[in-house]
Amino acid sequence: MPCCVQKFIVKTMAHHHLWILLFCLQTCLEAAGSDTDIFIVNGILGESATFPLNIQPSQKVTIISWHSKTSVAFVKPGNFGEEPIVTITHQNYHERISVSGQNYNLELRNLRIEDSGIYKADINVETSKVTTTRSYNLQVYRRLEKPKITQSFVTSVNSTCNVTLMCSVDKEEKNVTYSWSPRGEEGNVLQIFQTPDNQEETYTCTAWNPVSNNSDSISAQQLCADITMTPHTRHTGLMSGLAVLSVLIVILPSVVLFLLCKKGEGSFLKNFSKNPDGENQHSEQQTSWDFKL
Ligand SMILES: *[C@@H]1O[C@H](CO)[C@@H](O)[C@H](O)[C@H]1NC(C)=O
Ligand SMILES: *[C@@H]1O[C@H](CO)[C@@H](O)[C@H](O)[C@H]1NC(C)=O
Ligand SMILES: *[C@@H]1O[C@H](CO)[C@@H](O)[C@H](O)[C@H]1NC(C)=O
Ligand SMILES: *[C@@H]1O[C@H](CO)[C@@H](O)[C@H](O)[C@H]1NC(C)=O
Repeated sequence: MPCCVQKFIVKTMAHHHLWILLFCLQTCLEAAGSDTDIFIVNGILGESATFPLNIQPSQKVTIISWHSKTSVAFVKPGNFGEEPIVTITHQNYHERISVSGQNYNLELRNLRIEDSGIYKADINVETSKVTTTRSYNLQVYRRLEKPKITQSFVTSVNSTCNVTLMCSVDKEEKNVTYSWSPRGEEGNVLQIFQTPDNQEETYTCTAWNPVSNNSDSISAQQLCADITMTPHTRHTGLMSGLAVLSVLIVILPSVVLFLLCKKGEGSFLKNFSKNPDGENQHSEQQTSWDFKL
């Protein structure tokens, strides 16, 4: 039984070695015949990107075939040193491709997001029977707009306000990263403990993608405005309420009294003196009521 297992292991190891050898052979051959590196090309939506072939004038190109998810184009040298002849082979690329007569670099204009993907150029030259393939990874990005900073989870203890800042770009963008200055922190969330001493600070969030960056800032004073204002406004609110109340209590009865007195010169005072027991008590009660109000 152990012998059997051993044999099996030896067998699989031998197999493995064979596979590794084959794999090596294949990649070595590939490496000799072509460039397996994938060259990254970043493009901006609506603008243009260039796939660099950098073919030397000494290399006499016979044909270059470009393909991606679909075929893209064939490129042949022009007659008598004229510009290369480009044959577009898919409608998606219609009127968007030009090829440099000097080095056969291909330019794709008016980039669309869906142009993103792997592009390959199969290059044939007169001096070699081997086709060389160059690979590119084209990624088309939007130019980033100004990010937005929002604050949440504001809490305050001992006049230190604890704020969580969130930074975000509007649209669903790929490969966006965020950084904060002056802290130098990475990521779209920033935790701040705002004390009255660092009111002058300004926090800036920068959003990055491979083709652009854009920033927005928020000042420390704006940050805890809610927290510092709320008790203050409540306080003043209470004060003005009290003021109105005291005005009502002091002035209103005075005015009433004044009016009563004026009237009293006519009829009321006469009534007052005429009917001391009945109505006197009644009006006295009313006046004290007014005062209490
Ligand atoms: C600050 O607020 C965050 C979010 O509410 C909370 O997780 C954290 O514990 C707070 N820190 C302090 C020191 O209050
Ligand atoms: C607030 O301040 C008081 C005294 O200054 C201190 O005892 C207390 O621990 C502080 N609370 C916090 C949460 O820092
Ligand atoms: C973001 O970039 C990394 C390489 O930096 C890449 O592997 C990944 O696929 C990218 N993500 C998107 C959504 O493009
Ligand atoms: C950030 O963007 C500005 C233009 O908005 C550009 O001039 C600058 O070079 C960019 N910075 C980096 C590091 O890409």
